[in-house]
Amino acid sequence: MNPNTRHNYDRLSRWYDWFASSEKHFTKTGLRMLNVQAGEKVLEIGFGTGQGLVALALSAGETGKVFGIDLSEGMFRVAQVKIARAGLSSRVELRLGDAADLPFENNSFDAIFISFTLELFDTPEIPLVLGECKRVLREDGRLGVVALEKKDCQAVQIYEWFHARMPALVDCRPIYVRKIIEAAGFELAEAAQKAMWGFPVEIVTARKHG
Ligand SMILES: C[S@@+](CC[C@H](N)C(=O)[O-])C[C@H]1O[C@@H](n2cnc3c(N)ncnc32)[C@H](O)[C@@H]1O
Repeated sequence: MNPNTRHNYDRLSRWYDWFASSEKHFTKTGLRMLNVQAGEKVLEIGFGTGQGLVALALSAGETGKVFGIDLSEGMFRVAQVKIARAGLSSRVELRLGDAADLPFENNSFDAIFISFTLELFDTPEIPLVLGECKRVLREDGRLGVVALEKKDCQAVQIYEWFHARMPALVDCRPIYVRKIIEAAGFELAEAAQKAMWGFPVEIVTARKHG
């Protein structure tokens, strides 16, 4: 994990909804594809300001339960207020921590959602995070990932140029979303390719088998 990540997101937390408003559409698509049902137990990794948690809690309903983990205390506080305002505090449990070491039991979730967060991890850390997802998902559990997609195009080269020179400002970078998820042992279920300001975004759902 980049040591500045927590600090950067603490500073960004109050403005993040405004700053990242163009990402909402993709997150919504990912949530729709993950298709959480009433009664399910769901985890969101890197929940940010809690927009996804609210949607997940509404889908999981009164009989379901939603957990979230995020590294940033600032994001934690913003999300806590948003969830309380939505009247969903009893359905959502937040944890402050690192996704590379999930504080949850094996085989305990029906679904996990990760939006614009997986591409923040260093390349060797991504399999660790997905390994943790696999551990805490129940057999046949679903994983939903929304991430900037790496492919051979000028937009990706531009993004990578800025990431290499200004990593504190452009902290994430495009990744081979499907390839990484499959390499972690998940079975791909559905994938959608979109573009945000010309930058490729991939939305993938996958299942845990074995
Ligand atoms: C780019 S934001 C995305 C927030 C939200 N998922 C969304 O789509 O709006 C990334 C989030 O991941 C969190 N994060 C970064 N590294 C993390 C880690 N190692 N473990 C847990 N959360 C992390 C950040 O604090 C931040 O809230």
